[in-house]
Amino acid sequence: MSTTKKILERVLSSRRATSSPDHPTTPTASDDVISDESKTRKQSSITIRVTNYLTRTGFIWPVLIIGLIIIVLTSFVINARDLVCISASSSDRASRLKFFGFDGLESDFGSLGVPWCRSKHRKTVEWTDKDLLEGLEEFVPIYETRPIKNNMYGMGFDHSFGLWFIARWLKPALMIESGAFKGHSTWVLRQAMPDTPILSITPRHPEKYLKKGAAYVDGNCTYFAGKDFVDFGSVNWGNVMNKQGIKDRSEVLIFFDDHQNELKRLKQALKAGFKHLVFEDNYDTGTGDHYSLRQICDQFYIRGGGHSCFKDGDEARIRARRNKFWEKAVDVDELCGPGEAWWGVQGQMRDDFNHSNKRISYDQHFQNSRFVESVLEVYWELPPVAGPSLTHQTRYDPARSQSPIVEDGRYGLFQRLGLSKLETSVFNGYTQMVYLQISEQGS
Ligand SMILES: C[S@@+](CC[C@H](N)C(=O)[O-])C[C@H]1O[C@@H](n2cnc3c(N)ncnc32)[C@H](O)[C@@H]1O
Repeated sequence: MSTTKKILERVLSSRRATSSPDHPTTPTASDDVISDESKTRKQSSITIRVTNYLTRTGFIWPVLIIGLIIIVLTSFVINARDLVCISASSSDRASRLKFFGFDGLESDFGSLGVPWCRSKHRKTVEWTDKDLLEGLEEFVPIYETRPIKNNMYGMGFDHSFGLWFIARWLKPALMIESGAFKGHSTWVLRQAMPDTPILSITPRHPEKYLKKGAAYVDGNCTYFAGKDFVDFGSVNWGNVMNKQGIKDRSEVLIFFDDHQNELKRLKQALKAGFKHLVFEDNYDTGTGDHYSLRQICDQFYIRGGGHSCFKDGDEARIRARRNKFWEKAVDVDELCGPGEAWWGVQGQMRDDFNHSNKRISYDQHFQNSRFVESVLEVYWELPPVAGPSLTHQTRYDPARSQSPIVEDGRYGLFQRLGLSKLETSVFNGYTQMVYLQISEQGS
């Protein structure tokens, strides 16, 4: 035996002697202390014996290395969710979010209020969160087969799902869309209802886009496009409904994605006797290129409604902060126009891709919301499909949105639904798509 080994052996034997149960230590005043001490001694005695054995057998280093690996792996598993959420491909915004401690976004949803339009009889939709979840499961594989993979300036995943779900649920006898672009929304409607006729109103025929790349032209669709284009407000609906064989206009679903003033469109649809409407871009106050339902219903008496333009106020401070993280969040300078006008966009009622914008008074804005409420049966905003820590979206501010269908942290579900396979960009287009059911005033 080497000298070092002998010394080590002697030291360990003397320690063994003092802590041995055969040589109990002197009792102290407190039994608790005695029992605690004896436990500690027992543990250190075992530790020493194990250490001694490992040292002697030469296993100490492999065991230490394995221990270290176990610690690293455990901490990796515990933090896996965060690693998934904030990956290398996440934008700067997302990284900053994490840095500032904004990764627990669950509680953040709706924290600044989610304005909504009150309906006449407080009716709501028939479908439940469970229906939405089941719908998602079914829709993801369908979405993967879309002909237009890059639909920049058109609908992304959230609204494609929303439109598909609503159309499939309502089972209309005719589907009308205003604003088709390359035809992605026409394709979505077709997936929801394979045999139902579609009427598509759009200035440029989607077939024109075929020359440059992917587009969708439907075989069972009447196009009011190109030289046949007529604005929704100028269509002779009596003639069209006769041609389509539609007797009951409440069997028609209208989808608007034409960036027109939604108050104007609502009045036109009501006049024509339609009942079921979907608006794709239901912009929040201070954003967007047309007056939206959400903007109209943003009033002081609604939670999250009505705003303060006071630059030193709480709202200004919160908005300045959110504006750093979310592209669509606006600070009070962007929110407010001359005379502290916050409604619409800086006090403007925008229309036609912001080619027209009219300044309106608060009183007019208030009357607009009263009118909308007087004809509303149902107002339902599509929730975002998943939380931003899953989708990596950086545009809409969760604080102004209701909770998503797949909540932050539920990565397993997000993955099981096949959502993790989709590119991040498809989740960037959420603008609170809304479904309305309307009826004449007084009915
Ligand atoms: C945002 S895009 C529609 C995107 C499409 N729904 C999609 O999912 O890909 C808006 C479309 O509205 C069309 N548009 C413009 N003015 C219109 C009007 N008055 N009526 C109907 N469509 C209009 C534009 O030409 C454009 O194709």
